[in-house]
Amino acid sequence: MAGLFSLCLIYLGILLSVQAKPPHIVFIVADDLGWNDIGFNNPDMKTPHLDKMAGEGVILNQSYVQPLCSPSRHSFMTGYYPFHAGLQHRVIMPEQPVCSPLDMQFLPKYLKDLGYATHMVGKWHLGFCKWECTPTHRGFDSFFGYYNAQEDYYTHDWKGGYDLRQNERLATEFNGTYSLYSYDQAAADIIINHNTSEPLFLYMAFQNVHDPIEVPKKYEDMYPNIQNEGRRKFSGMVSALDEAVGNLTDKLAQKGMKDDTLFVFTADNGGWPLYYGNNYPLRGAKFTIYEGGTRAAGFVRGPGLNVTGRRFDGLMHAVDWLPTLVSVGGGESPPVGYKGDGVNMWPALSQLSSSPRTELVYNIDDLFPYEEGHAAIRVGDYKLIDGYPGLYPEWYKPQSVEKDYNITKLDIEQFEQEQVSRYQLYNLKDDPTEHNDLSSNNPDIVNKLAARLKTYHDTMVPANYPLPNPFSNPKLHGGAWTPGWC
Ligand SMILES: *[C@@H]1O[C@H](CO)[C@@H](O)[C@H](O)[C@H]1NC(C)=O
Ligand SMILES: *[C@@H]1O[C@H](CO)[C@@H](O)[C@H](O)[C@H]1NC(C)=O
Ligand SMILES: *[C@@H]1O[C@H](CO)[C@@H](O)[C@H](O)[C@H]1NC(C)=O
Ligand SMILES: *[C@@H]1O[C@H](CO)[C@@H](O)[C@H](O)[C@H]1NC(C)=O
Ligand SMILES: *[C@@H]1O[C@H](CO)[C@@H](O)[C@H](O)[C@H]1NC(C)=O
Ligand SMILES: *[C@@H]1O[C@H](CO)[C@@H](O)[C@H](O)[C@H]1NC(C)=O
Repeated sequence: MAGLFSLCLIYLGILLSVQAKPPHIVFIVADDLGWNDIGFNNPDMKTPHLDKMAGEGVILNQSYVQPLCSPSRHSFMTGYYPFHAGLQHRVIMPEQPVCSPLDMQFLPKYLKDLGYATHMVGKWHLGFCKWECTPTHRGFDSFFGYYNAQEDYYTHDWKGGYDLRQNERLATEFNGTYSLYSYDQAAADIIINHNTSEPLFLYMAFQNVHDPIEVPKKYEDMYPNIQNEGRRKFSGMVSALDEAVGNLTDKLAQKGMKDDTLFVFTADNGGWPLYYGNNYPLRGAKFTIYEGGTRAAGFVRGPGLNVTGRRFDGLMHAVDWLPTLVSVGGGESPPVGYKGDGVNMWPALSQLSSSPRTELVYNIDDLFPYEEGHAAIRVGDYKLIDGYPGLYPEWYKPQSVEKDYNITKLDIEQFEQEQVSRYQLYNLKDDPTEHNDLSSNNPDIVNKLAARLKTYHDTMVPANYPLPNPFSNPKLHGGAWTPGWC
């Protein structure tokens, strides 16, 4: 009897595993959102939808990204560190003839090969000097968004060029509409039109909350107690983003897809205090390889997570999403042909077991002068910073009143004059806010980590940071940033 029963269970198991379809995946990136800019890390922020989703899933407590936009997005899309692709120096500027290397296969292409419909909405910032560099040539079935780092939220103009496209077509009819509304609508259209017998991959790379600081007034009015105008508007931008994510999940629920959807939410780098973003109590900001620039707010929610409502404290890096999501999508682990830097985090994430990642590189950039940090590595609990850490080296509290403090910047010359030793060493377990530099009393640990950093440095591809190309000029392309000049 018992034997028959277990036989039935085995059959049931086979049946279930045959029927188990890969989940839909919605990968949400918030631009320049700081560690302290979301409700689950800071109760002053009004993000009810994101907080609820995070509570139903797993909050990522040590999920690292690069200190700037293009490098992080490159990591999400390719699973390679930027220093293995020549993208470790600053970000891709609109006039530069460069893009994320064409021989590195993008995440949407891997998922497309597994049967996914693949769509992207929002910010690209991985180069556009030729069409081959752009989203619909790198694995996305559709694209609605912009190519560059930033632009006006309403006129979609940056540096004298219009930058908003529907696939390859210039989408001028959205001139005047706050981008978040158009992106929310585009996501809704994708979901409504989706054939649910296929898995969906939707990459939502929101413009919020990058500068310029612009938001419809009703969202700013949600924070009457913040006297500082910039921080009040910025907080409104965060709450508007939260509403858009709420709308997106409602659409998925209406279509009966929500419970079959794995949501990933992550910032692309730390907040930028100059534009009111905040990472307190972490040290530093966007541009630095301190934790404030690189430890991203984020969570996952969806099917297959065996333990929820907790924080996952394992180490992760942006490069891990590619092998992780390919595995979730039913692909091999590691993906066939993938020689990148990521590891599949799914077994650890879904069981909240210990992370297979024990070390990570924050960045390695030898191209002088730099604005972001020069080089840093973490091995276990220890972090070694080699040289200049990046522009914003302090601990910044959220601005509350006008002019309550000035943002300190650390330029290279100043750093070189003040520098006592080349290295800084922190124990992040005991000191996650990087107050106690242990380097002078622990030369052995410094040497060990420096040697490890050197082995990575030996594999570095030199930074590809070309001079501006005059043929990029929007005046030569009907007033828009347009491919076709490299
Ligand atoms: C967008 O609208 C503004 C204001 O009406 C106008 O100045 C600008 O030329 C428009 N841009 C495009 C690309 O149509
Ligand atoms: C949905 O996709 C399935 C499987 O690819 C296909 O058989 C079906 O015809 C599609 N339905 C529509 C309405 O396109
Ligand atoms: C969310 O949906 C509501 C109802 O359709 C709409 O009024 C609101 O503008 C949407 N919010 C955003 C940010 O798109
Ligand atoms: C979920 O975790 C529990 C506790 O570790 C374990 O007993 C159970 O087998 C796990 N379930 C799955 C589906 O992995
Ligand atoms: C999250 O990280 C902080 C250090 O910043 C640590 O104190 C805390 O225990 C971690 N949370 C969990 C649940 O591991
Ligand atoms: C900020 O800098 C300005 C100009 O240097 C100075 O006048 C002001 O006192 C500073 N404010 C604070 C709070 O330090």
